[in-house]
Amino acid sequence: MNKKAHIIVIGNEKGGTGKSTISMHLAVKFLQEDYKIATIDLDGRQGTLSKYISNREKFNLEKDAQLQIPEHYKLTPINFRDTENIHKQISELKSLVSELSNKFDAIIIDTAGSNNYLFAEGYKFADTLITPINESLIDLDIFADIDLDKKEIGKMNHFSEFIWDIKKNIALQRKPFLNWIVVKNRVSHINSKNKDLFNFLLLKLAKKIGFRPAGSVRERVIYRELFLQGLTVLDMRNEKVKLKMSISHIAAKREIKALAEAISTK
Ligand SMILES: Nc1ncnc2c1ncn2[C@@H]1O[C@H](COP(=O)(O)OP(=O)(O)O)[C@@H](O)[C@H]1O
Ligand SMILES: [Mg+2]
Repeated sequence: MNKKAHIIVIGNEKGGTGKSTISMHLAVKFLQEDYKIATIDLDGRQGTLSKYISNREKFNLEKDAQLQIPEHYKLTPINFRDTENIHKQISELKSLVSELSNKFDAIIIDTAGSNNYLFAEGYKFADTLITPINESLIDLDIFADIDLDKKEIGKMNHFSEFIWDIKKNIALQRKPFLNWIVVKNRVSHINSKNKDLFNFLLLKLAKKIGFRPAGSVRERVIYRELFLQGLTVLDMRNEKVKLKMSISHIAAKREIKALAEAISTK
């Protein structure tokens, strides 16, 4: 019988919220659990995930480290006027996903923080959608207009409407419901009044829009530093990775583990 990969799309219409960092960490987490993982970078123009993975390949070559690496693919959006080639690329993407679905346990799709046709296509494959957001009141505006004085939620914004359409599309195909997880990223350790208000509004939005707030990843310098070597906070046990395991690493590992677990518990 054919295998059917679980497809995890990492998406937020804003850039810089941690999509590529989280894509890489989840890929490595699942590889370490012996799942067969493929990754697709639909943000080929920035190519952060692709660079992350090639940095990891380089680390392996130079240090003979044998770190696990997902089978990786990259797509770069082409000029929006070139409709013929756009159609060709979309159908190639569909074939790629369907081919990989039969070979892998999961496919992780990293998307761009801008609305182009690849962004729109990528989400349609999702069984699970993970939206990382920064823990700031401004970042909640991707979901809806918010009245901060009354602590009330107003009109749905473009991203929520877009995901609503994706959910309708999934229902029409008689596929199971979209598992939409919103993860707080770059969380600061400082307690503030705004933090309470943020969490209150996030829960309210979750009920109204239909996502699940799960997991939270702290702001840690280590996430930025590891990128250049293609490493993740999950690689400290490898003998070629000469980084000291600190309390911060252990806590970071736990955060990624919790996020990975949130994907399988609906
Ligand atoms: N939890 C975090 N702590 C510190 N820096 C982070 C964290 N998550 C992401 N970053 C950094 O923020 C920047 C943007 O992250 P990235 O994953 O490229 O976002 P996106 O893919 O959404 O554009 C990168 O420099 C990355 O290293
Ligand atoms: Mg990115």
